[in-house]
Amino acid sequence: MRIAVLTGAGISAESGIRTFRATDGLWEEHRIEDVATPEGFRRDSVLVHRFYNMRRADTARARPNAAHRALARLARHHGVTLITQNVDDLHERSGSPDVIHMHGSLLGALCAHCGHRWPATLVMRASDPCPSCGQPETRPDIVWFGEVPYHMERIWQAVESADLFAAIGTSGQVHPAAGLAQHARRCGAATVELNIEPSAISRDFGELRLGPATRVVPEWVDALCGQAS
Ligand code: NAD
Ligand code: APR
Repeated sequence: MRIAVLTGAGISAESGIRTFRATDGLWEEHRIEDVATPEGFRRDSVLVHRFYNMRRADTARARPNAAHRALARLARHHGVTLITQNVDDLHERSGSPDVIHMHGSLLGALCAHCGHRWPATLVMRASDPCPSCGQPETRPDIVWFGEVPYHMERIWQAVESADLFAAIGTSGQVHPAAGLAQHARRCGAATVELNIEPSAISRDFGELRLGPATRVVPEWVDALCGQAS
């Protein structure tokens, strides 16, 4: 069975990483246009780097939870394509191979001048010179609003060939990620949403498993791996 899994901020919530749109979410305190757009970066790169430096520190302190670990286990039993909107590395640290980061990663640096990529340091500044062209236009390697998400060709292919598509801990408010479930369903996949509450796109799923990710994801994986062998 081919399984495509899309994860969002909710899967890392119980590791202590704040989501974006909860009442205590990151977007409550920050204007998206200030910290998550190329225009905001051009206006005030110090503010943008402070925001992502703090998130990088939070991520370094966080530990993978039972939901991340369950997905790593699922990949040992089935062919899984793991697509994440998250910019943390908790999937990798729990043992999932080959994670597709469609919104980039806090662990990457990107030169806004020449497009060169290199590993991020814990604290970054725009004035850090690019190791390739030397320009001081360093930004986090994160996809901002108005930019094209990464790896979309591979993602569409995985979704179109999946027998089962699951979305875990995502509010379904950001496209193109929010359209993947509907596309998977039209292409014939069974679809399941795992979330602590129904999302904006719950109607696109054939099955809904409500509850905290650390409970519902291991239960779902147990059911699938029981069927597997
Ligand atoms: P938007 O309208 O600002 O931009 C969507 C972009 O995706 C457009 O440039 C569009 O051309 C492109 N796009 C749409 N479908 C595509 C496809 N199939 N293949 C390739 N490109 C495609 O929309 P938005 O959804 O509000 O935001 C853009 C992206 O930036 C989103 O993916 C969003 O999650 C991301 N983002 C990331 C962060 C972060 O901190 N990680 C914050 C904000 C936004
Ligand atoms: N278990 C399961 N689901 C949870 C939990 C939990 N413990 N806690 C929260 N959730 C769910 C919420 O119900 C919500 O549907 O996780 C979802 C989090 O939604 P958002 O904060 O909107 O995060 P996400 O969907 O990943 O955001 C998408 O938006 O700003 C951009 O680029 C950013 O990648 C991000 C994208």
